Amino acid sequence: MLLEYGDAGPGPLVVLLHGFPLDRTMWEFQIGSIGSTYRVLTPDLRGHGRSVAPAGTYTIDAMADDVIETLDSLELTAPLVLGGLSMGGYVALSIAARYPERLRALMLMDTKATADTPDAARVREDLAREVERGNSVQPVVQAMLPRLFAPGNRTRRADRLTRLGEQMMRTPALGVIGALRGLALRPDRTADLARITCPTLALVGAEDAITPPADMKAIASKVPNARYVEVPEAGHLAPLENPTAVDAAILDFLKSLPA
Ligand code: MLT
Repeated sequence: MLLEYGDAGPGPLVVLLHGFPLDRTMWEFQIGSIGSTYRVLTPDLRGHGRSVAPAGTYTIDAMADDVIETLDSLELTAPLVLGGLSMGGYVALSIAARYPERLRALMLMDTKATADTPDAARVREDLAREVERGNSVQPVVQAMLPRLFAPGNRTRRADRLTRLGEQMMRTPALGVIGALRGLALRPDRTADLARITCPTLALVGAEDAITPPADMKAIASKVPNARYVEVPEAGHLAPLENPTAVDAAILDFLKSLPA
């Protein structure tokens, strides 16, 4: 499926994949800063933002195939830098495992390589049914929003958190249901990590309550050429909570890449 996307800036290509149930606007700060030297392409994953929200389960591999199809349609077939946060990170890992030749470098943020536990999968299915019954994404917003930011940022960055809630509310019910069911089905990608050969940045908010630093450290310890960065004063949405530190880490990583 072809995706809608944002496309800004000159220079080498950096593709950024958003988390669940968000859209490309979560990268607003990175588009402003990294986008002054790099071309930053920000797809809306299937069922999110302005992309189409079909009925059915959105497997992570299907979402990854959408990204590849969209890049192909733009004739962007040369190796590029791919970044993803949380669900976007799962999609990036799927691309790293199945289309390694497309990657110049990988940036995994606030994500993990492991699959859902049976309990986590059950919670997702319960939520999917609640969204289905009420035809409203409110239960997901209620469950997730309070856990996305580091405790201190919930008041310090209250305006950003409010905007994030509005972003989540704009995601169509079908998109949220499709993604919840796909997230629950995603495979464990731990065994694929050792096969990632491109330079990799593993970045996490120090206070991430959803995919804590231990998850990202586990990734960084298994990817042969990984750089681990822990971002202070940030939770699960590090790029939005502490953009100054995240952008500095990303720019430093990008500058370190072989031409
Ligand atoms: C996300 O931020 O994309 C989600 O928290 C991912 C997940 O629920 O596993």
